[in-house]
Amino acid sequence: MARILITSAIPYINGIKHLGNLVGSQLPADLYARYCRARGDEVMFLCATDEHGTPAELAAAKAGKPVADYCAEMHEVQAELARGFRLSFDHFGRSSSPQNHALTQYFAGRLADNGYIQEVTEKQVFSKADDRFLPDRYIEGTCPNCGYDKARGDQCENCTKQLDPTDLIDPRSAISGSTDLEVRETKHLYLRQSLLKDDLAAWIDSKTDWPVLTTSIAKKWLNDGDGLQDRGITRDLHWGIPVKKGTQDWPGMQGKVFYVWFDAPIEYIAAAAEWAEANGKTEADWRRWWRTDEGAADVRYVQFMGKDNVPFHTLSFPATIMGSRDAWKLVDYIKSFNYLNYDGGQFSTSQGRGVFMDQALAILPSDYWRWWLLSHAPESSDSEFTWENFQASVNKDLADVLGNFVSRVTKFCRSKFGEEVPAGGSLGTREQALIDELTTRVAAYQDHMAAIEVRKAAAELRAIWVAGNEYLQSAAPWSVYKTDPEQAAAIIRLSLNLIRLYAVLSAPFIPDASATMLTAMATTDDAWPDDIAQALTVLEPGHGFSVPEILFRKIADEEREDWQARFAGVRS
Ligand code: 2FM
Ligand code: ZN
Repeated sequence: MARILITSAIPYINGIKHLGNLVGSQLPADLYARYCRARGDEVMFLCATDEHGTPAELAAAKAGKPVADYCAEMHEVQAELARGFRLSFDHFGRSSSPQNHALTQYFAGRLADNGYIQEVTEKQVFSKADDRFLPDRYIEGTCPNCGYDKARGDQCENCTKQLDPTDLIDPRSAISGSTDLEVRETKHLYLRQSLLKDDLAAWIDSKTDWPVLTTSIAKKWLNDGDGLQDRGITRDLHWGIPVKKGTQDWPGMQGKVFYVWFDAPIEYIAAAAEWAEANGKTEADWRRWWRTDEGAADVRYVQFMGKDNVPFHTLSFPATIMGSRDAWKLVDYIKSFNYLNYDGGQFSTSQGRGVFMDQALAILPSDYWRWWLLSHAPESSDSEFTWENFQASVNKDLADVLGNFVSRVTKFCRSKFGEEVPAGGSLGTREQALIDELTTRVAAYQDHMAAIEVRKAAAELRAIWVAGNEYLQSAAPWSVYKTDPEQAAAIIRLSLNLIRLYAVLSAPFIPDASATMLTAMATTDDAWPDDIAQALTVLEPGHGFSVPEILFRKIADEEREDWQARFAGVRS
């Protein structure tokens, strides 16, 4: 039994995520976690909300709430949606937790002790009206290059010129509009990650099995980008983790907090500590997942994330871990994703374009979304959600192929043999051919799942469903029954067993439908099949079953058109 640590990129606290966010990290991470558990591995699957930073403060201000209250509420909203999508986290933590405060301060102390922190005094714009230093992008003014009057302090959106806040003509605070700004001196901590360049390069080079998307981004930032420039890890904000050196005050850093991107990945570790606290476990119980000197040497650690997160996970977070010179576990495999686009454009949180997690669950159960999203995961390139494709996929794969198989088999059996697995008949060459095909396909399915090739796994699962349908069609028990009821019984017995097998194999993709199938087959035996022939004899003659409610309904054209119009933009 392997031990697998799985983390999904932790979503920002401000706002509900759209389906593109979901398929880029949390959902495929859940697929893999469920698969590993089903195979008997010991799994620790962690996620959290990413709660610090200026966007969280501003969202709270807009909602008219203290930021701590806002984060607590939004965490619960996101946790509820995660439950709605059946994301099977062992713990869904919060980067604002006491555990993350302590660990983040601990890491900063270790990095400082080991010479990886530099203190830098710099000049920054202070807004008296807002009583705060302004990050570059919260200073607006007129672009000196093109005259655009809403240029940001880091870049002009109109002409794309990179700017310094001091370049702006008539600068003002983007938060309050105040022009009462002044430049003040302030001290910050920099992580000297450039010192770790050789270590990082050797580590990335050793990862020969990583997806091309991951390594290409990592190498680009390592070599030609400015990804390894020493990076400021503190901010002059009120909300965040106070800057401390371990448990000690850090002279000159009072009132400052760590930069959100410094503390967010540390939350992967802190989430395990939170899990321990929430479940009555000990310190040793969580550290055996994270410390190679305390039991984690045999753990395989897999991260899931969208491609925009790759630089932080291949360079900055590993630099934090390496620079600590402690035996914290480094990631073994990074599965990254391209973007999912929406109906000819992009999902847009600011414009409310596309389907958001709450809206999706309000119109259809989670399995419909899970299936479409995972079977169209943006792995080798960006992919696109269209309502036509969604409708076709649901109606064909889920309703016609899988749902129809379950319904035909159970209803036919009930009408001819009653609600129990019928006895009699024997398996012939057609059945053997099906078993052979399924044996090959299940092996391929397992290979794709183990390699986290999500689309290929979905395609193989679909082919496994199709094989059962084709078998049923050609074995035609409804015709055989007229002349040889015993043989029809053998066909149906095998088919009822196929339903159980499908429930087991499909559970990582569509857990609710799988549970319905198992309940209908009146069994809790969800053991992953070692041997297909054997797995198709688990339900023995005389075993009771029931006809389930319809597993998947079809999407009508009118509904599709209605949704298409409803989600075209501007969410209130
Ligand atoms: O892109 C995002 O949604 C970030 N909140 C991801 C952070 S992942 C990690 F660093 F914790
Ligand atoms: Zn400009």
